[in-house]
Amino acid sequence: MPKCQYCSRPAWYRVRTSGEFLCPGHSRIEVRGTLCSSRRPPALQVSAARKADEKVILMMWDRFWDDDEMDCFGSSFKATEVPALLARDGERTVGILSYAVQREEDALNIVSLSVLPEYQGRGAAREMIAALEDEALRLGMGRLIVATSNDNPLALYAYQRLGFRITSIQVGVIEPDRPDEAHHGFAGIPVRDEIQLEKRL
Ligand SMILES: CC(C)(COP(=O)(O)OP(=O)(O)OC[C@H]1O[C@@H](n2cnc3c(N)ncnc32)[C@H](O)[C@@H]1OP(=O)(O)O)[C@@H](O)C(=O)NCCC(=O)NCCS
Repeated sequence: MPKCQYCSRPAWYRVRTSGEFLCPGHSRIEVRGTLCSSRRPPALQVSAARKADEKVILMMWDRFWDDDEMDCFGSSFKATEVPALLARDGERTVGILSYAVQREEDALNIVSLSVLPEYQGRGAAREMIAALEDEALRLGMGRLIVATSNDNPLALYAYQRLGFRITSIQVGVIEPDRPDEAHHGFAGIPVRDEIQLEKRL
């Protein structure tokens, strides 16, 4: 598992231009031109997770979220209790999109989306979201919804590049009651607010 180039934490990101691996705390953003996204290695395969994939699902959630439970849109979701799509490179699972079917919201809710840093920038997230759109249409749902946090500029950028728009910002809902328990995310920014987005189909 690649570690951050500046500390011993697991890497979350791979810099597309240099190939550096980074944890959120040591990541920064910079404006660049469009050329980087034009050269892509071969696509990865996306399919629905099966019962036998439970172990790898838990491993992926633990690697990114350090937890098997995720809170978003005011509800809590467990990794093994929601369906998932997996992106694979041959036998290796390299990306996961877990989602909840929320008929009352006319939506599939992306509860967790993550791609191993070695495989980022190869269209795995794009492919998994496209497959989820197909599933939403099959189930007769009109929207995909997703929540990210205020510190996560890459997710906010990626979702908007993939056709989502912001619907609500829940200020302070992720902020702990005590300041000394504050969680610091991307570039050390305190994690405080939930940013909700949707993609209408
Ligand atoms: C966000 C994440 C899922 C993107 O996965 P990915 O497979 O690399 O994404 P794709 O290759 O399909 O690219 C989709 C878009 O993501 C953005 N993106 C992906 N990697 C990027 C990078 N290294 N730098 C900047 N933008 C990047 C781009 O906008 C890209 O579209 P574009 O090239 O047309 O602009 C991945 O970076 C990740 O797992 N991050 C850590 C976990 C996380 O934050 N998840 C979201 C929680 S809400």
